[in-house]
Parts: sequence; structure tokens; C-alpha cells
Amino acid sequence: MDITTQGLRSMDHGQLVQLIEEQSHSPDPAILEAARSIRDSVYGRKVYFRGLIEISNHCKNDCYYCGIRRDNRQVSRYRLTKDQILHCCRLGHSLGFHTFVLQGGEDPWFTAQRVADLVASIKEEFPDCAVTLSLGEKEEEEYRAYRDAGADRYLLRHETADDIHYRHLHPREMSPDHRKQCLWTLKRLGFQVGAGVMIGSPGQTANELAQDLLFLKELHPHMVGIGPFIPHEDTPFRDKSAGSIPQTILMLALTRILLPHVLLPATTALGSLDPMGREKGMDAGANVVMPNLSPTDVRQLYTLYNGKLSTGEEAAEGLKALKQRIRAAGYEPDLSRGDYKV
Ligand code: 5AD
Repeated sequence: MDITTQGLRSMDHGQLVQLIEEQSHSPDPAILEAARSIRDSVYGRKVYFRGLIEISNHCKNDCYYCGIRRDNRQVSRYRLTKDQILHCCRLGHSLGFHTFVLQGGEDPWFTAQRVADLVASIKEEFPDCAVTLSLGEKEEEEYRAYRDAGADRYLLRHETADDIHYRHLHPREMSPDHRKQCLWTLKRLGFQVGAGVMIGSPGQTANELAQDLLFLKELHPHMVGIGPFIPHEDTPFRDKSAGSIPQTILMLALTRILLPHVLLPATTALGSLDPMGREKGMDAGANVVMPNLSPTDVRQLYTLYNGKLSTGEEAAEGLKALKQRIRAAGYEPDLSRGDYKV
């Protein structure tokens, strides 16, 4: 296997499958080193901060892996008001944040008009901040309304690029083609776009992960969210095992190598599964963290998987400690907008 940067960038599907099979248990340090040095040459040692606001845990979808799936009757559902969301932004801005990520389940209450109004209000009050939305699959007109209102970025993980595997993770009414189409539409509308996958979702093999890498190479998103699958007790996948940390690290590094300019979070799921997850992620090319700005009383209701961190260094209150950890790992916390560098 040619694991030089050039070698990795030119691999076809078969070669990527072999690479992933060989490297998933303990990735070759040379691959991680290549990823780090590519990240350093584009972004330096900066790690960008995004304030995450979980605006609603209502969801019309029934994804088999997700704790806030429609059929989970155990969740008490909440939805933040516009005032509450603006309050979270004010808190975040006072702490120095310049990116707010509004994430939620696919909640029909948040119509195009309500979201556009919300985005416009945030941009009016905080013109120096970027607004990222992560609200799922919508029609083009709705995405356009968000964009017209001033939204800068959109996160929509593709979850898996393999159609059969996609159907294994989602009920029939969800379509892999539509999901991918949304990402292309978002790009065309001028959003900075984030795609991404869970690592180790039930039934996933090196074959699917190789397809994910090729899909990411083709889509060329500005951001990629990669974290381990972690089971949730009130979902059909409750008895499945969690994704592996080394395989997640490998996928982060390969993503950095294939997409040198990508903004790559050391995800909450990675930090939740491994106490040193964030550091390991940064050492494999990650350069974003997303502390939680949601009101403390709703945080435990936004449980996508069991053991999800939402306090301490994952949260706004732990900002000082998180910055300290990032510095201790040899990186530089950066609370500016942190746009994609072309
Ligand atoms: N484990 C890990 N990640 C999950 N997500 C949803 N459920 C889980 C889980 N059980 C991820 C999905 C989604 C993102 C918001 O959270 O990839 O896109």
C-alpha cells in the first residue's frame, strides 16, 4: 500500500477498502502525521469554536440509530422559543463565540418563515457572527429562504454514501438520493456545506467507508462531521456495539488528507466515547470543537445516543477548561468566525 499523501489521494474504491481494513485497528502514525501537517499548513494550529444550540428535539423522522427518533415515546419533547435562542446567542457572544450552530430534529413547527425570521434576527443583532443551520432535509425553496435571511452554513451529514446501508439505517420513507441531492442543492445556493458519517454504524464495513471517502472527494464539502456510532437504549439499535475510536481517527485523518481545507470537528461523540477523544481527533487533523450553548435544562433531552457529554468541557460553562485542554495539547483556541479557507 502506498500510504504517501499522493498515494492516498489517488486510491480507487478497492484500494481504499484494503487500506481501511488494514489500518482500522491502529492507524499508521505516518497517516496521522500527514493529516496533521496538511491541517497545519492550511489552518495552522488553530482550533475553531462553534456554539451549538439544540433548538428542538421534535423529529418527524424515525432513524433507527437516533435517540430523538419519532417513535421514541420516552423522550419529553421541547422546542426553544425565539427569545430563548437569542438569549443563547447573547450568552455565546459574551463568551466570545462568533459562530452559532442551530441544530434540531426535523420539526415541522420550524417553518421556512420561522427559521428565516430567526436567522435574520440573529444576523441583525450579531452581524459579525456566522449562522450555521442543521435542521435536516428541506426543499430547495426553504433552503433558499434560509440563505436569503443570511444563513452562512448548513450541516447535513449524509450518514452513509451506500444506498443499501442507508436503507439499513433509515425507514423506507427516507431516501439516500434525496439526502445527497440536498447537499448538492445547499452547495449551489452558496452555503458552506457540511456532510459527514457515523463510524461503526450497524452493518457498516470498509466497503461503505471507502464509498464515503469517494463521495466526500466528489462533493468536496467545506465541513465534515465524523463521529463514532454510539447506541441509544430506546432505539432498535440498542444492542449494537459502538464504533471504534481508532477507526474514527483513521477516517478523520483520511478526510483531512483528501480534503486539505476541510473544517473538521473533533466531535462530541468522539469525546463522549473516549475521554481523550478530542485530543486524538486534533492529532489526526481535526480543527473544530462545538461546545454546547443550549439552556442547561433541555440538554439531557437532546440525547441522540447514551453517554452524550453536555456538561463540563462540552458546555459553555466549561469554556475556560476546554481552552486550557486545547492549549495543553499544543493547539490554539480561536473564537473568530473561522470560515473555510479557500
Ligand atoms: N450515535 C452517534 N451519532 C449519532 N447521530 C445520531 N444518532 C447517533 C448515534 N446513536 C448523529 C447523526 C446526525 C448527528 C446530528 O448526530 O450522524 O447527523
